[in-house]
Amino acid sequence: MGEKGKSEKFLVRLKETLVKFGHWLTNKEKIKADLLKLSRWLKREDNQVIPISIIASSAISIITGIFAPQHLILVIPISFGITAIITFLKATPTTPKTTTPKPIPTPQTQPAKPTPQKPKLKKSLQDYFIKKVTPLPPTVTFTKLPQNAQIIETFPIQLPYSKVTIISLPELGGAKAYYVEEVELNDKEKETRQKLADIISKEIEPPEKDTDPKTHIENEAHRLAKKYGFAKKITPESWPKILYYLHRDLIGFGPIHTIMNDRMIEDLSVNGLNIPVYVWHRKYESMPTNLIFIDEDALDNLIVKLTHLAQKHISTAFPILDAMLPGKDRLAATFKREVSPKGGTFTVRRFREEPFSIVDLIDLNTVDDRLAAYFWLLIENRMTIAVIGGTGAGKTSTLNALASLVKPAMKIVTVEEIPELNIPHENWVQLVGRESYGLGIMKTGEVTLFDLVKTSLRYRPDYIVVGEIRGEEAFVLFQAMATGHGGLTTLHADSLDYAVKRLTSPPMNVSKTYVPLINVAAIQERVQLPNPKSDLTFGRRLKSIVEVIDYEEYRTIATWNPINDRYQIDLSSSEQLRRIALKHGITMKEVLEEIERRALLLHDILQKGVRKNVEVATFITNYYLEAQFPRPQPTSKKKIGGQ
Ligand SMILES: Nc1ncnc2c1ncn2[C@@H]1O[C@H](COP(=O)(O)OP(=O)(O)OP(=O)(O)O)[C@@H](O)[C@H]1O
Ligand SMILES: [Mg+2]
Repeated sequence: MGEKGKSEKFLVRLKETLVKFGHWLTNKEKIKADLLKLSRWLKREDNQVIPISIIASSAISIITGIFAPQHLILVIPISFGITAIITFLKATPTTPKTTTPKPIPTPQTQPAKPTPQKPKLKKSLQDYFIKKVTPLPPTVTFTKLPQNAQIIETFPIQLPYSKVTIISLPELGGAKAYYVEEVELNDKEKETRQKLADIISKEIEPPEKDTDPKTHIENEAHRLAKKYGFAKKITPESWPKILYYLHRDLIGFGPIHTIMNDRMIEDLSVNGLNIPVYVWHRKYESMPTNLIFIDEDALDNLIVKLTHLAQKHISTAFPILDAMLPGKDRLAATFKREVSPKGGTFTVRRFREEPFSIVDLIDLNTVDDRLAAYFWLLIENRMTIAVIGGTGAGKTSTLNALASLVKPAMKIVTVEEIPELNIPHENWVQLVGRESYGLGIMKTGEVTLFDLVKTSLRYRPDYIVVGEIRGEEAFVLFQAMATGHGGLTTLHADSLDYAVKRLTSPPMNVSKTYVPLINVAAIQERVQLPNPKSDLTFGRRLKSIVEVIDYEEYRTIATWNPINDRYQIDLSSSEQLRRIALKHGITMKEVLEEIERRALLLHDILQKGVRKNVEVATFITNYYLEAQFPRPQPTSKKKIGGQ
């Protein structure tokens, strides 16, 4: 057969093949069936497909090499290329494996088994060509509510996406636990959430001025889902759930978001990896939660994120942090395993948007109304009060409430390491310390409380309020008090004796002769309550009010009675009130009457339901305007300072 005959035969065959292909193309059922066959063949679990295709490619190459060596140059790359594609397709799983989260100690309900679904042909073929999002392994676990748990209370945090359940576990002797439950995503939603979070973090456009961050994330999520062609695949039911997680992770606090949004939480502590996160609940006290960090990087990343939110820095070189989050919550953290062998740790102490007013404290029975009136009169007379107590006793809150009693016209300078105080005064200078920018012992740029207390004197304050004294600033504060400035401060100590020991030893080094410059010590504690108040089994109480007459000479004028939760008060023995009487040339009786009047006013404010500091301040200002102290008296014989 000549060359011409060969090419004619080839053309005839080609024509026949094209006609067959045309028929095949018009027969949808056949296409479906064939593609299904191909798809099944490619998806075969046995790994014969790859060796078979390699053998076939080699055989084709050998046969071509023998019979048509001139085409070898084309046939070898084509056949091996096909083998490579098959190998690649086989290597790409259609249903990716998920990593099972680490089991945690509390009992768990069995997760529902996913029903295996046969992928549709069109979808399964498409799947090969769509970029796969390999699901990231879980970084935290939220244990499911145990079936045998007794539910004490359930309350929503962000309806309908998150809620909290307080349970008591019989196997833990009825101990309480805090269960966070967030809306669950199905596999597809999980994949979309991850894909969107990835894309958004890379491609997010800066928001227009004044755009709400939540709205911006939502708009960007829709824009980017459209851009990458999967917007239509997200159902209207899935969108809000996915957006909840995007908000939570991108502009919220990630896995601790629900806890951070629970206003009943006083603080939360992440104590390391593989340990439940603990919370301090206003009603149920300390409890473990069902949240456990299991991934070290995720924990470190969250710590870095919180640190950046606080506009501070944490690193292996500087692994300790004390800072304030934008919402004024206080953050203390350690980074990686530098100083905390169980992994990074952090504690967030929640900030009360509305600080406790003195009326709040009366309502909580932290202080009695007569005692509050007593403090009010002392403060008006520029006397010095130190609130003494242990960690979390409520010292700073009491200090804030006391500072709010300062006469509106008086000038207050507050000095703190972290800005916690929030008082309703206009004539208030707030000074806050600054950390060093230097390395090691170089303290470049550091502004200490000592510097600030010294500076505060130049502002000619009537009252200096120091958040907490613990170092050499105490010395300056006492100098200031010695020169007639009023002073309010807190001191970390369990008793007055211990507080005085701390004051008179390094680094405070206050001279013993200066100790009586503290006129009154209010010792505050977290105590067990005899008659639980609205389910609260513990409370904060001013356990004793002690006047400092001289070094080691104290006079207790009030004590809290743990049996009936009442205060035993003896103001008539008060040395400080006697001094006030002397100062104003009035009798002790008149001073005590004034205290009764003020106590009555505070009681009235309480009865009126007024709580907010600013509102309470208005009543106090009005009192100053209306009632003069000391009251103008008709000239009569008085026994000054006596009864
Ligand atoms: N009288 C109170 N009644 C109920 N809760 C209170 C009271 N005072 C303070 N708290 C709460 O107790 C927590 C600790 O309060 P605060 O910061 O005032 O204590 P602290 O003694 O200054 O703590 P620290 O020792 O860490 O300085 C806060 O969450 C606060 O809301
Ligand atoms: Mg404090």
